[in-house]
This record gives sequence, C-alpha cells and structure tokens, in this order.
Amino acid sequence: MKDPIIVGIESSCDDTSVAVLQGNKILSNVINSQKIHQKYGGVVPELASRAHLRNIIPVFTVALQEANISLKNVNAIAFTQGPGLMGSLLVGSSFAKSLSQALSIPLIGVNHMQAHIFANFYDEKNSPDFPFLCLTVSGGHTQIVKIESIDSLEVIGETKDDAAGEAFDKIGKMLGLPYPAGPWIDQHSKTGNKNRFDFTKPKMEAYNFSFSGLKTAVKYFLEKKCDENPNFIQENLNDLCASIQKIIVETLLENFLKASKNLNIKNLVLAGGVSANSLLRNKFLSLEKENYSIHIPPIELTTDNAAMIAIVGRLKYENALFSDLSVTANPRLKL
Ligand code: KG4
Ligand code: ZN
Repeated sequence: MKDPIIVGIESSCDDTSVAVLQGNKILSNVINSQKIHQKYGGVVPELASRAHLRNIIPVFTVALQEANISLKNVNAIAFTQGPGLMGSLLVGSSFAKSLSQALSIPLIGVNHMQAHIFANFYDEKNSPDFPFLCLTVSGGHTQIVKIESIDSLEVIGETKDDAAGEAFDKIGKMLGLPYPAGPWIDQHSKTGNKNRFDFTKPKMEAYNFSFSGLKTAVKYFLEKKCDENPNFIQENLNDLCASIQKIIVETLLENFLKASKNLNIKNLVLAGGVSANSLLRNKFLSLEKENYSIHIPPIELTTDNAAMIAIVGRLKYENALFSDLSVTANPRLKL
C-alpha cells in the first residue's frame, strides 16, 4: 500500500497550523503564531478565534504548496477536537469537516494532549516502546500519563492548579518578560546562578503537581525586594530566572521519576511546549546513563503544531479509527 497522505489541522489556542504527512515523513508543518496576544500578556480567546479565521486558508495553502501535494491526493483530514478554546477549536474543526466532506475522505478527530505525546512517534524507527510514561508539560496542562497503546492512555497524575507552562508565563510576567515567558526565562537562565535564590519546592500528593504556591511565594518575595530596591528585578533578572527554572524543572522530574520507579516503567517520554526548556531536556537526556530509555520530541514538535496532529491521524488511519461528521469540538476533551 502507498504511504497515506494525511493533512493535520491545529487551532486549539493561539497557533494556526497545517501540516502534511506522507507515511512517516513530515512534508510541511506551517505554523502561524498569533502575535496579537503579546500586548495583553496572555491569550484573548475572542481575538484568537478571529485570527484563526483569517489565517486558516493562507496557512493551509502554504502547507500544501510546501509539501508539493495536490488536494486530490490527500487520504484523510486530522484535526484537533480538543481540549482548547471553544472559538479556536471551532474554526479548525469546521474547516476540517468541510474538507473531508468536499473531498469524500475520512475525518479523524484528535485529542491535542495525545498529539503532544505522540509527536515522539515522528520517527517510526525510533519510537518509544509500549508501555511508556509521558510527562506532558504545556501552557494548559501538566500530566503524567501511562500509555499502553495508541488508544490506551491513563492520566496518573496532574496539576491541581497552574500548569508548568502557566507557572513560567505568570512568573515571567511578574519579572516584566513578554508573553509567553517560558522561552525568555530559559534564555535568561543560561547566564544566571540557579542557586542564588532558594524557593521552597511545591508539595505534591501522589503523582500530582501544584504550582500556584510557588507563584504566590515569588510574588511576595519580589514585592518585598522591590520595596527595598526598585531595580531589584533588572539587577538580578538572570539569577531570578535560573532559580525559578531550577525549582520548576526539579519538581517536575522528581514526581515523574517517583511514578517511573513505583510503576516500574523505564521508557520515559517528554512532551508539550515546556519540553522545549533546555534545563528540562538536558536533565531528561542525562537519565539515559541510568538505564532509562528516553524520548524527547525535536524542538519544532514541542510547542503547538499540526504535524503532531497528523502523526496521531496516521496512527488512527492505520487502525481505521475515524470520526463521522457529527464529531464536535470539545474544549474539555479528556484523554
Ligand atoms: O504546548 P504549548 O505550545 O501550548 C499549549 O498547549 O499550552 O505550550 C506552551 C507553553 C507556554 O507556557 C510556554 O511558555 C512554554 O510552553 N514554553 C517554555 C519554553 N518554550 C515554550 N517553557 C519553558 N522553557 C521553554 N524553552
Ligand atoms: Zn499544546
């Protein structure tokens, strides 16, 4: 059988993305990251859906051009069904449904969190073996997931308040960094002293996380220090970033490794936007020396993108796991 050509569509939050996948090969993965939210310090849902509406056709056109694929050769349309922002999801899902109907090809609804995890299957010859544990860290989610097959995923721990990416973004905002602040904190940390400021590691029950206490602790700490010296943040920005990054990364890994040990699963996978973080990636990779089998997506597949949607689309296509036209966008879709 010829390798199927799958078009992936992602529009769950503030990135409009369309990808074309042929078999295992990503032919294109076009991402339009909406800049409009930066001045508001976070995503404004109404502006996001309007921007998706403007972007979707141009992004789709470029993705097909880059892939050098004609529409008549596409075998299936995969799209993000949820979780995400309702207005944003509706743009992608309506577009995907129209394409599927017009071209008379299968439609495949994809869970965005599953797609982050299965981005690690971008290389068929080097995919994680089942069962594996995934630490999914994004702007909206922080989860430890046990995966036994393409359609057997169990969340065994998650954040009870802020997600890890949200912690980076909200604390970064207090430091005066642009949105999203995660990459900026990462960048400033490179020349900072991670042991300069000692924040208490958040307490966790079972395999769950909690980051809102850290956010509040940093807030009060900064208020006190800025009262004493109004230039405190500017003068100590790199050390502050490094100290905060260290505590978030250590908290994530400590809990994840506890789950790995207790469940006796040594196949470990990282996923989601925060998996672009250099400290997290380095610490994770160093686990290879301790006999863990490690998988990390390439940087371009860590943050929101449509290639990861198309990858799940391909796996579902091979297993004939199709959706019908009654499938609806679901902002709270669970794994
Ligand atoms: O997965 P993603 O693109 O979107 C969601 O589904 O939420 O994740 C976005 C999150 C943001 O919070 C962003 O600050 C964070 O990923 N992020 C990072 C880095 N790159 C992106 N956080 C820390 N270090 C980074 N290098
Ligand atoms: Zn995401």
